[in-house]
Amino acid sequence: MRPDLPLIAARGLGVQRHGRPVLCDVDLILHPEERLFVLGPCGAGKSTLLLTLLGFVPASAGTIHVFNRPCRCEADFAPLRGPLGLLFQDSNDQLFGPTVIEDAAFGPLNQGLSAAAARERAWAALQQVGIDGLAERPVHELSGGEQRLAALSGVLAMQPTVLLLDEPTASLDSDSAARVSAVLAASGLPMVVASHDTALVDRLATRCMTLGGGPAPAC
Ligand SMILES: Nc1ncnc2c1ncn2[C@@H]1O[C@H](COP(=O)(O)OP(=O)(O)OP(=O)(O)O)[C@@H](O)[C@H]1O
Ligand SMILES: [Mg+2]
Repeated sequence: MRPDLPLIAARGLGVQRHGRPVLCDVDLILHPEERLFVLGPCGAGKSTLLLTLLGFVPASAGTIHVFNRPCRCEADFAPLRGPLGLLFQDSNDQLFGPTVIEDAAFGPLNQGLSAAAARERAWAALQQVGIDGLAERPVHELSGGEQRLAALSGVLAMQPTVLLLDEPTASLDSDSAARVSAVLAASGLPMVVASHDTALVDRLATRCMTLGGGPAPAC
């Protein structure tokens, strides 16, 4: 991948959800080494935008290129769900369980690692996020903040090359949020982050874009 080419280039994106326009003519370009924050009020379409970049929500207009390849259909997007590590806004959409370590090992197992190697990757990710003490806990018994950290561990365990993070510090106390911020900075990974956390924006953002509030105009 040439360093001057964008990792992600979405241009003129239009997205409707249940027939209602949510995004209209949105551009998002992520260059290597960037930490791009997507800001905007509740309902502005931040989560929708991240989901669209990985093909979970279809675009009705515009183009998406990832790693310089056009993405139009499920066959284009599916192989990217790994290299592009998505942290969903709702941890319940991410965590399968049964335990925290088994959950974090699931992605690496799916990538073809042996059970032992996947568990090793998972363990390293839990340590990185500082929740190795929760390794054997059932995911459904975790607090909201613990779930957030477990979900992030699962994303990091897949060793993505780009992160797409939807509210990574939501539900976290200030110490945990600071740790997540430090982990993300130390990862050195390019990322697109949707967040309302101004401390996180101040600490991490190399660039911000803002989505407007209210319903998008029909397009
Ligand atoms: N599953 C869904 N089905 C239909 N409409 C949806 C769905 N999810 C979100 N929407 C609508 O899409 C619009 C954008 O929602 P989205 O979740 O992308 O906003 P957001 O900017 O991430 O908000 P927040 O800051 O609250 O997370 C909202 O009007 C919302 O009602
Ligand atoms: Mg959201």
